[in-house]
Amino acid sequence: MCGIVGCVLDKKVAPTLLESIKTLEYRGYDSVGLSTVTDKINIKKGKGKIHEVDEKLDLADLDGNTGIAHVRWATHGNPTTKNAHPHNDCKNEISIVHNGIIGNYKDLKQDLINEGHVFKSDTDTEVISHLIEKYMAKNENLLEAVQKTVKELKGSYALAVISTKEPDKIIGARNESPLIVGVSEHGNYLASDATAILKETKKVIYLDNKELIELTKDNVKIMDYDLNPLEKKIETITWTAEMAEKGGYDHFMLKEIHEEPMVIKESLSEESKIKSIVRKFKNFNRICFVACGTSYHASLVGEYLIESLIGKPTDVILASEFDYFKKTLDDHTLVIFITQSGETADTLEAIKIANEKSETLAIVNVVGSSITREADHVIYTRAGPEIGVAATKTYLSQLICIYLLVAYLSDENEELLNKLYEISELSEQLLSKEEQIREIAKNYTDVNDFFYIGRGFNYPTALEGALKLKEITYIHGEGYAAGELKHGPLALIDENIPVVGIVPPGPSRNDTYTNLKEIESRGGDIIYLGANNDPSILEKENKLLFDPRIDETLAPLLYIIDLQLLAYYISIERGIDPDKPKNLAKSVTVK
Ligand code: F6R
Repeated sequence: MCGIVGCVLDKKVAPTLLESIKTLEYRGYDSVGLSTVTDKINIKKGKGKIHEVDEKLDLADLDGNTGIAHVRWATHGNPTTKNAHPHNDCKNEISIVHNGIIGNYKDLKQDLINEGHVFKSDTDTEVISHLIEKYMAKNENLLEAVQKTVKELKGSYALAVISTKEPDKIIGARNESPLIVGVSEHGNYLASDATAILKETKKVIYLDNKELIELTKDNVKIMDYDLNPLEKKIETITWTAEMAEKGGYDHFMLKEIHEEPMVIKESLSEESKIKSIVRKFKNFNRICFVACGTSYHASLVGEYLIESLIGKPTDVILASEFDYFKKTLDDHTLVIFITQSGETADTLEAIKIANEKSETLAIVNVVGSSITREADHVIYTRAGPEIGVAATKTYLSQLICIYLLVAYLSDENEELLNKLYEISELSEQLLSKEEQIREIAKNYTDVNDFFYIGRGFNYPTALEGALKLKEITYIHGEGYAAGELKHGPLALIDENIPVVGIVPPGPSRNDTYTNLKEIESRGGDIIYLGANNDPSILEKENKLLFDPRIDETLAPLLYIIDLQLLAYYISIERGIDPDKPKNLAKSVTVK
C-alpha cells in the first residue's frame, strides 16, 4: 500500500531512488514519482507502472544528492498524475512522500484553505506539505515544522520530507505505517521496507511508532515526538539483493513457486525455536487464529489440525472482523496472528486489542515488521522476500510453521514430524509437472467461473486455490467444502464451469469422490487432484497426480503448489502480469 524511499548520498540520488522504488513496486503501481533538492525542488511523477512512466519522463534524470520517491496504491484521490506523490507546498520549497491515511485531512485541508493555501491534488497527503509550510513560515526549522505537523495528524503515516531551506537532509516520521532506516558509508536511507535498500546496505534500524528521524549523509538522529534523542540498535539483514530479483524467471511469482521446496526446508529449520516457544506458553484452553487473505487460509488449516489432532477448541477470525469477537478473549486463550508482511493494518489493530487480555503469538515473514514488536512470541517463517503480489511460498512457510507448532502442542508428535521431513523431499518432484499444468491451463483461458472443492484439511486448499485464481486471472473462482456443494451451488454446475476436485488419499477420499461423481453426472468438467495409485482418478483424462504418501493431512502443503501453477499459467495465457494484478497491493497497510 504505497512504498516510500528517501536517501542522502555522496552522489546524485535519482538513479538510486529509481532502482530502490522499483523493488517496492509490489506495494502499489498506480503511479510513481521522485523529487530531489538542489536550489529548488526537482520533481518528476506520472500515472502508471514505473517502467511506463520512466520511458516517458526519464525518472533518474534529476540532479541533487538528497531525494525521495514513492509508488502509489490509491486511497484518497484517483490514480492520476495530479494525485501522484511527491506533493509540494504552495511555493514548491517543500516536497513529501507518504504511505498511510490521514484520517482528519478534511478538517485540516479546510483550515489551510481558509488560511490561503492552494491545493493541487485530491489526496489526504497534501495537507502535510502545507502544514509544514505553515510552520516553516513561522521560522521553525524543518525538523520542528515536521514535529509540529505530525502532532496535528490523526491516522497512519510513514513520511519523508525534503526542503530547499535545508537541502542536505530528509526528515522522516513513522506512525502505524512501516519505515526503516538504512545506514552506509555512502550515505543514509529511509524506506518502507528492507527490500528497497538491500542493494545499498544490510545495516538497518527498525523504527517504532511516533518516532522522528533526521537523516543527513553522515548522520542519523532518531527522536521521540518531543525531540528527545533515542538510542536505537543497528541490525543486520540476512536477506540478499538477489533474493529480491527475478533470477532469470519471467515473473517473481514463478520464481517464488520454484523456491517452495527450499522454503519448506528453511521453515523446518525453525523446529527447535518452535519447540522452545511452545514450552513458554502459559496455560490455555482455547486457540484463536487471526489473519487476512492467504494467511487466513493457512490459519484454517491450523484449525483443522488442532481440533482434529489435539482436540483443543480453535477459532479462526478474519482480522477485519475481529472487533465482533474480542469479548470472547481471556487469559486462557492463545491468540495466533498469521501475517506475511507483519504490516497488515487489520491484523495490527487486532493484536493490540488481543494483547490486553490474552497471550499472543505472531507467525510472520518480515523480520522487524510492526507485528514483531506487538506479539508476546514471534515465529519467523523464513521464506525470504516475496515480491509477487499473490502469496505463494510464504503460504507454504506459514503452513510448515503451523504443522510444527501442532506437532509440539501435541507433545512432540513424532509421526507428524517425520511426515513433514518426508514432504520436504517430495516437494522437489512436484515442479516437474509444470508443463502438464501449462497445457491444462490453455483449456481454461475463456471461462468465467471455476469451483474448487475439498474436504477437511483441504477445504482451505480449495479456498486458497480459488483465491489465487481470482487475484491473478480475474476469473471468478469459488472454494467450497465438498459436502456443501449439493446444498445450493450444484445448481450452477454445467459444462461451462470447471471444477477442481481435491481428493487426496485418506478417510475423506471416498466422500469427496462421491461429491465429484455428483458433479460429473451433471455434466461438470472436473480437474482431479489425487494420488497416482488411485484407480478411479487414474482413469480420468483431466488429472494432476501426487505421491500417495501425501495423504489428506499433508495435502495442504503440496497440492496447493499445483493450484498456484494452474492460476499462474491461466494468468499468462490471458496476457495478465501475475506479479501486478489490478487493484491489488502486497502489503495492505490501510483498513
Ligand atoms: C493473497 C494475498 C493476500 C494476503 C493478505 C494478508 O495472495 O497475498 O490475501 O495474504 O493481504 O497479508 P499478510 O499475510 O501480509 O497479513
